[in-house]
Order: sequence, then C-alpha cells, then structure tokens
Amino acid sequence: MNKVLVSLLLSLGISSAAYAAGDAAIVGDAEAGKAKTAVCGACHAADGNSAAPNFPKLAGQGERYLLKQLNDIKGGKRQVLEMTGLLTNLSDQDMADIAAYFASQSMSVGAADPALVARGEELFRGGKLDQGMPACTGCHSPNGAGNDLAGFPQLGGQHAAYVAKQLTDFREGNRTNDGDTLIMRAIAAKLSNKDIAAVSSYIQGLH
Ligand code: HEC
Ligand code: HEC
Repeated sequence: MNKVLVSLLLSLGISSAAYAAGDAAIVGDAEAGKAKTAVCGACHAADGNSAAPNFPKLAGQGERYLLKQLNDIKGGKRQVLEMTGLLTNLSDQDMADIAAYFASQSMSVGAADPALVARGEELFRGGKLDQGMPACTGCHSPNGAGNDLAGFPQLGGQHAAYVAKQLTDFREGNRTNDGDTLIMRAIAAKLSNKDIAAVSSYIQGLH
C-alpha cells in the first residue's frame, strides 16, 4: 500500500480497518531498507542480483512476495539454513523496508540453454494439459513478471539452479509454504527431472 493510500484511509477514519488487516498497515520504505541489507549483500549482492546460481536474485521481485518469504523464513515455515538467525532481530518494519528496497531494483536476465528452450517454452506456455497441469503463464504471466498483488512471484531472469531447486523442493515436500491449496506442490508433482531442467533454463533467459 502506498503512503497516499494510507493517509487517505486515515483521513477517512477507517484506520482501524487498516490495522485489522495486520501487515497491510506497515508501509515499506525502500530508502530505509537499503541501509538494512548490508548482511544480505554477501549472498544476494547489494542490489539483489546475486552472482551465485544457488542464491536467489531478489532484485525486482514483488514486494509482497518478498515480505511473505521473509516472514515464512523467520517463522520457520520455510527452511533456509544459510539464513539461520539473520532475521531474528529484524522488526516487521525492518522487513517491510528491506522488501521495498529489493523490489525497487531490477532483476537482471541470464541466458537459456539453446538445447532446452523448445521444451522449456512448451511447458511454461502450455503446461501439461493431459495431466491437468496448467501453464506457468497463467499465474507467473507470459513474460515471467508474476503478479505481486496475487502473491505470484517474478520468475523471469531468476537463476536456473535456484528455480530447479525450488521445483524439486516443492515436489519432494521440502518446501511447503505455498499455502493450503498446495498450488506449487501440485504443479511440481507433474514435473519430471528433465522437465524441471528445461523449464528452469527457459525461465533464466525469460524477460
Ligand atoms: C549466507 C547466504 C545468505 C545470506 C547472508 C542471506 N541469504 Fe537470503 N537466501 C539464501 C539462500 C541460499 C536462499 C534460498 C534457499 C533455498 O534454496 O530455498 C535465500 C532465500 C531468500 C529469500 C527468498 C527468495 C525467493 O525468491 O523466494 C529472501 C526473500 C531472502 N533470502 C532474503 C534475505 C535477506 C533480506 C537477507 C539479509 C537480512 C538474506 N536473505 C541473507 C542465502 C542467504
Ligand atoms: C495457479 C497459480 C500458479 C501456477 C499455474 C504456477 N505457479 Fe509457481 N507459484 C505460485 C505461487 C502462489 C507461488 C508462491 C508460493 C509462496 O508463497 O511461497 C509460486 C512460486 C513459484 C516458484 C518459487 C519462486 C521463488 O522465487 O522461490 C517457482 C520456481 C515457480 N512458482 C515456478 C512455476 C512454474 C515453473 C510453473 C509452471 C510449470 C508454475 N510455477 C505455475 C503460483 C503458481
């Protein structure tokens, strides 16, 4: 929610409704967030475009999605051993600021393996309809930008190795923070290792 909207809500006298919505009332400040990310930069890079393929790019990722992951990681709903203890002393405001900062950057784009593009594109754009698996585009959008209001993360440009690990983790039940509808677990259950390699490579070059 932007500041104008919050002050509008306050001036309308419905601030209690905004507070009842919990985190929705906390507004992230990208400028303040930048100063709080020094420790994160060691793995995710200062601007969020990490160099190492197993560390996800955070730059340009949706603000709400980032904040949800931070809450899930801090609360133990998503296990990230590398980040153990790093979020413990961050307040809700700190995490909102950090999410706003990384969201304000732009995700860099990599390259897809030419040998995997055709199969990757087929899966990303067409799904596996015979097995009831929808296309990724339906939620993550045709260019991979996602839909942050709906909670669908940006994928386009993300490291293939990271994407492949997430899909495997969803499939094997090692990542379970996709909600009660098991959206991503149900989708990943239909993907073979070869499918995962192809669609992850395609995503890395997508923009
Ligand atoms: C020692 C390396 C390391 C440090 C330092 C680190 N992270 Fe991470 N982070 C990771 C790894 C590895 C993952 C992905 C784990 C996995 O494979 O699921 C991750 C995942 C994330 C995710 C989820 C991204 C997504 O696309 O779902 C967010 C958000 C995040 N980190 C934010 C932060 C913030 C904010 C900090 C600083 C307070 C930080 N990280 C510090 C290694 C690190
Ligand atoms: C019905 C909607 C929907 C469809 C279709 C869908 N996804 Fe997702 N996806 C989600 C949601 C929601 C999340 C975030 C889960 C969470 O909050 O942790 C997600 C998360 C992901 C992530 C983790 C991103 C990160 O940064 O950690 C990957 C990778 C992913 N999806 C890949 C795919 C691929 C590949 C397809 C197609 C084969 C696909 N998704 C189809 C809704 C969808």
